[in-house]
Order: sequence, then structure tokens, then C-alpha cells
Amino acid sequence: RQKEQEKLREANEFAKKLFTFVLRNTAAGKPAMDYLRSRGFTDKLIEEFGIGYAPSRWDTLEKALARNGFDLPEMEQGGLLLKKQESEGYVDRFRDRVMFPINGNDGRAIAFAGRLMSDGQPKYLNSPETPLFAKSRTLYRLYEARGAIRKTRQAVLFEGYVDVIKAWSAGVTNGVATMGTALTADHAAVLRRFADEVIVCYDGDDAGQAAAAKSLPLLEQAGFQVRVGLLPPGMDPDEYIGSYGPEAFVREVIEGAVSAIKFKLIYLRKSHILLEDDGKIRYLRDAVKLVARQDSPTEREILLKELSQEFNISLDTLKQETADVRRQEK
Ligand code: UTP
Ligand code: MN
Ligand code: MN
Ligand code: MN
Ligand code: MN
Repeated sequence: RQKEQEKLREANEFAKKLFTFVLRNTAAGKPAMDYLRSRGFTDKLIEEFGIGYAPSRWDTLEKALARNGFDLPEMEQGGLLLKKQESEGYVDRFRDRVMFPINGNDGRAIAFAGRLMSDGQPKYLNSPETPLFAKSRTLYRLYEARGAIRKTRQAVLFEGYVDVIKAWSAGVTNGVATMGTALTADHAAVLRRFADEVIVCYDGDDAGQAAAAKSLPLLEQAGFQVRVGLLPPGMDPDEYIGSYGPEAFVREVIEGAVSAIKFKLIYLRKSHILLEDDGKIRYLRDAVKLVARQDSPTEREILLKELSQEFNISLDTLKQETADVRRQEK
């Protein structure tokens, strides 16, 4: 067991070195380098994040692993190789993809995400679950970011690998991301060891906003202070930084992140049509329910004042309704 896991760590690290070598030093890596350049990746970013390229041949890694004495069935268990369908032997799992390594607790790679350079499915191919890699517990870049997270007691949670990378280059060095899965209670527990506050900074599209809304109760239950970084509809952090620059990203999205309750109210609005009284009443009823769950009376009053002004309802009425909800929910 122990020995197999160590072999697998060595193999993943070996694969990482091979992929980075191919990207930086071979003709086969040139299209991947062009792709990365076109997306604004500097040499510094490529180096810092250990980005590489898995060539399109079926046997680059397979041959290299075999030559270096790795046990191929073990490498299949470890997610680096696939069993051939029709005959004996193994082939590379990752082919013709830009490779983003995920490093474990000792800084060595435990898994990869491989991105296609053109349209196609899946856009990102992730390592499968292996003895080293559990998606429901692993956060991309936690190993590298935890110093910065500890120092500030704050983490920024992104949806995408590239978002983490571009945010890092904008000075947001406490960013992590889940690995192509929704946030779990285990993720939250892992992060809680280093941080007291999380800024959720998911994509501005519907999927991203829905995922952000779902993550809030999970994070709150883990005991985090939670804020949400807001992005324009349809933009992700990488695109935002590309369009508006790193300073604007830090100032507007990260420093300007709104409280969890603010986000919940904004998100709630999207599912209500506010043109008619009916819709307004329904929205206000749901909004009051959210506000009622806030522990701080001051906070409740501030939020109710805003609702009161916006919908031209007296503050007394809204306070009354909030008190009713609080009594019912007790
Ligand atoms: P997105 O579709 O938002 O991609 O998926 P992205 O991160 O913006 O990627 P780029 O900028 O086009 O390169 C967000 C995240 O969902 C996971 C990955 O973790 C990705 O970063 N994902 C997405 C997968 O695991 N597989 C996929 O096929 C697509
Ligand atoms: Mn997305
Ligand atoms: Mn995205
Ligand atoms: Mn993106
Ligand atoms: Mn409703």
C-alpha cells in the first residue's frame, strides 16, 4: 500500500516533469505554447504553475514510464494510463492537452487537469479518483496558497483553474478551486483549518451563480464568514481580468465582494418578476425570510431599510414581518 502510493507520487511527479519539458523544449509543444501565449500566460506563470503539454501520441508517457521501471498496471490505477481496449497493454490517458498539475501536501503532483486547445468534450479531462486523489477533498492550489491563506485567514474560492492562475498574477495569492465538482462539506472542512473567511468568486453566468448560491450554506455551516465577488453576467474572473485589468479585479471584485446575505438577496431577485404587486409581494416575503435569519439586529435593520426604500414600504411593516418570521422559525 504505502509503497504503491509512494511509487504513484513519483510517477505523477515524473509525468509533470515530462509534460513541462515537452511544452518548453520541444517542437511538439509549440502549438500549446502558442495557445498559452494567446491566453496571456507568461513564462513566469507557466513556471510557477508547472504547466505542461501532453503530446498527441498514444504512448509518450507510457513508454517513458516503462523505461523508468514503473509498473504499468499500477500507473493505470493511478490514472496516468488507460488499458488498451482491443489488446494487451496501456496507452496514455492524457493526449494533446495542456496539462495543469495538482500538487498534494508535499508539493508533488497527485493529479492533473488537461485542457483541450480547441472546442470539444470534455474541455478539461481530470485525473480519476485514485489512492492519492479524492476530488471531494482536494482543492486546486491549496498546497501553494495555504501560506497566504493562513496569513490573511482568508481564501478566495474560484470555479476554474485559469481563474486561480490569473487571479494569482493579479496579486490574489490566496485563491483555490474545486476540481470540476461542486463544493463539498469536506472541502469546506479542509479550508477551515487555514481560513476564517471565504470569498466565493464563481463565474458570472447562470451556472456559476447557482453554484455560488449552493455553496453558501455549506460554507456558513463550516463556520466561515462568507462574501461573494460579483462578476458581470457571463464573465469569469479570467475574462474580467483580461477586459478590465488586475487592479480593477482586486478592487471591484475581491475587495468589493458583498456579504452572503446581500448576494442571497440579489440572487433571489433574479427568480422573481418585480413588475407587478404580486411578484413584489412574493419577493419581499422571501427576502424578509432571508433577513430574519441574520443574527445581528443592526444588520437586519440596515437590510430592511434598503428594502423599505426600494419598495416604498414602511420600515415598521417590514420589521413587523421580520419579527413574525423569527417567531415562527424559532
Ligand atoms: P468553465 O467551463 O467555467 O471553464 O469550467 P473555465 O475554467 O472558464 O476554463 P477556460 O477558461 O475555458 O479554460 C469551470 C471549471 O469546471 C471544471 C474545471 O475545473 C473548470 O476549470 N470543468 C469544466 C471540468 O472539470 N471539465 C470540463 O469539461 C469543464
Ligand atoms: Mn463556468
Ligand atoms: Mn469559467
Ligand atoms: Mn475561463
Ligand atoms: Mn419565491
